[in-house]
Amino acid sequence: MIFLGRNFESEEPIYVESNRSRAILICGKRGSGKSYTMGVFLEELYSQENTLVIVIDPLRNFYTMSRSNEDQYDDLYRWNLTPRGTPVRLLIPGDPIKRYGEKVIDALRSQGVQVESFRINPGDLTPDTWLDLFNLSLTEPMGLALYRSVSQLRHSQGVHFSLEDLIEKVKKSNRSKETTTEALLARLEVALDEWDLFSSYYKEVTEIFDVRAVNVIDVGVLGSSRFGLRNLIVLILTQDLFRKRSQARLQEELGLPTAVPKVWLAIDEAQEFVPSGRSSLSKESLIQWVKEGRQPGLSLIAATQQPAAIDRELLSQCDLVLAHKVTTSDDVDALNRLSHNYMASELKQYLRQIDRRGEALLVDDEEESVKVVQVRPRRSRHGGAEIQ
Ligand SMILES: Nc1ncnc2c1ncn2[C@@H]1O[C@H](COP(=O)(O)OP(=O)(O)OP(=O)(O)O)[C@@H](O)[C@H]1O
Ligand SMILES: [Mg+2]
Repeated sequence: MIFLGRNFESEEPIYVESNRSRAILICGKRGSGKSYTMGVFLEELYSQENTLVIVIDPLRNFYTMSRSNEDQYDDLYRWNLTPRGTPVRLLIPGDPIKRYGEKVIDALRSQGVQVESFRINPGDLTPDTWLDLFNLSLTEPMGLALYRSVSQLRHSQGVHFSLEDLIEKVKKSNRSKETTTEALLARLEVALDEWDLFSSYYKEVTEIFDVRAVNVIDVGVLGSSRFGLRNLIVLILTQDLFRKRSQARLQEELGLPTAVPKVWLAIDEAQEFVPSGRSSLSKESLIQWVKEGRQPGLSLIAATQQPAAIDRELLSQCDLVLAHKVTTSDDVDALNRLSHNYMASELKQYLRQIDRRGEALLVDDEEESVKVVQVRPRRSRHGGAEIQ
């Protein structure tokens, strides 16, 4: 069970069941406490047995969890809690030192943060994903050339090839015009030289995670517009974990040991990854994660300022909604569409009661209940505070 806070009226403690797989939406306007609340979930989850906890962190709000929250010592005391940091494994796409500089990395390590490089395998991307990544289609010569080269490599080497191998393959293929090959090479070389995201030898993505820590992937180092690289990370990660967990589930049912535990994936600023009204690299995979993740034990916590900007199919799959203060009418409407038959009035009506920081409306589909909850103070340090 996750200890989330107290019922605002009755003061009873509020717990969220975490044994089975869940899809949780945290929403609210800017500064209403979404990332803070997400941190409360993470604090509780990382210590649970056999659970892998991963956060997609675009705004660098979570590596601070390694420190204890001394600033709220008194608040915590009133809740019978003490400040306590959590183990954090910070995964930085590419070379951490190149991204942050040595001083920053040293400072992070001295604060107890484990810093690791995070890379993805070129061989884990399907030919179609390669095309999506470069916004190409099979009906244009460059798209066709790329598709063919990736398919041939996958055929001959499986997942074991590097970006350099792909570039060589494109150079050697003689089925395209020279201008097509040159244009494609120019793009691939940018990916090789500037992105610093692909690994040169095959490494299982899951190998990098630590089940006894909160695994924070700092996607903030990849600009939000650059080719959808943040999305690419989420796509590869969710596809891989989905596949591995489905296999593991089968083994568990047969009483065999498995290597990959159940997974809780938390995504801050989730509208970037499952946007409504347009496609994105990671959208389909995340929808599959929530729709079919129950059996393999995959959970999602998505936080967003704008529920209206999140794909409706994903919203409708959420079995728990935590709404901090929401004011924009589009967003109120998006939440209102989720109103359930057990609710006495529309969500809109309930939302009016939410006013103070840390307060949220909790709609639990499983319990068929709606409550106002005061989220408990964080034991670990929150990283999203504004400059004073
Ligand atoms: N339950 C709480 N108890 C005490 N303080 C809180 C609580 N929730 C949030 N805060 C404070 O409110 C501030 C804003 O919280 P947070 O960074 O989580 O907002 P946010 O909704 O994620 O905002 P943004 O949309 O800008 O990402 C933080 O400085 C945090 O310390
Ligand atoms: Mg936030």
